Amino acid sequence: MPAILFVCLGNICRSPLAEAALRAEAERTGLDVLVDSAGTGDWHVDCPPDPRAVRQAMRHGIDISTYRGRQVSAADFHRFAHVFALDGENLKNLRRIRPADGTAKLALLMDMVPGCEGRGVTDPYYGDEAGFAQTWDDVTRAARAIVAELSSIRG
Ligand code: 4NP
Repeated sequence: MPAILFVCLGNICRSPLAEAALRAEAERTGLDVLVDSAGTGDWHVDCPPDPRAVRQAMRHGIDISTYRGRQVSAADFHRFAHVFALDGENLKNLRRIRPADGTAKLALLMDMVPGCEGRGVTDPYYGDEAGFAQTWDDVTRAARAIVAELSSIRG
């Protein structure tokens, strides 16, 4: 089963929404995939997602209130086949955390979406509710692209 990890800064806004979007898309298409999310920072370890992220997922019928924050670790580069950074800053930090013998492929999430290569998912934490809708839009497009790619690999 492919294992995929999404990583942002706090693990309370963007990466939990990416996790939710991929879980939903995988379920919809009948794809078996292991999905998780984490943060490069440790401020929100064991915390539920931001209430605005919980509301955004709820608008799409997905309950993420039981998710809990955790910090990414070197071991994640052995546990997961793909580690997706939500933006360039987190990608840079992940390159530092990645152990020399880590097997995971590390990439920027929006590189999966044609036309969005090199673009980060904007951090909605300091903005308003509309930012979370934009985050949902981005991570949903990426989740669809990931599922399409995994499905094509599996034939
Ligand atoms: P996230 O957003 O990386 O999308 O979860 C943030 C959440 C919290 C903080 C920064 C970004 N913070 O500084 O606490």
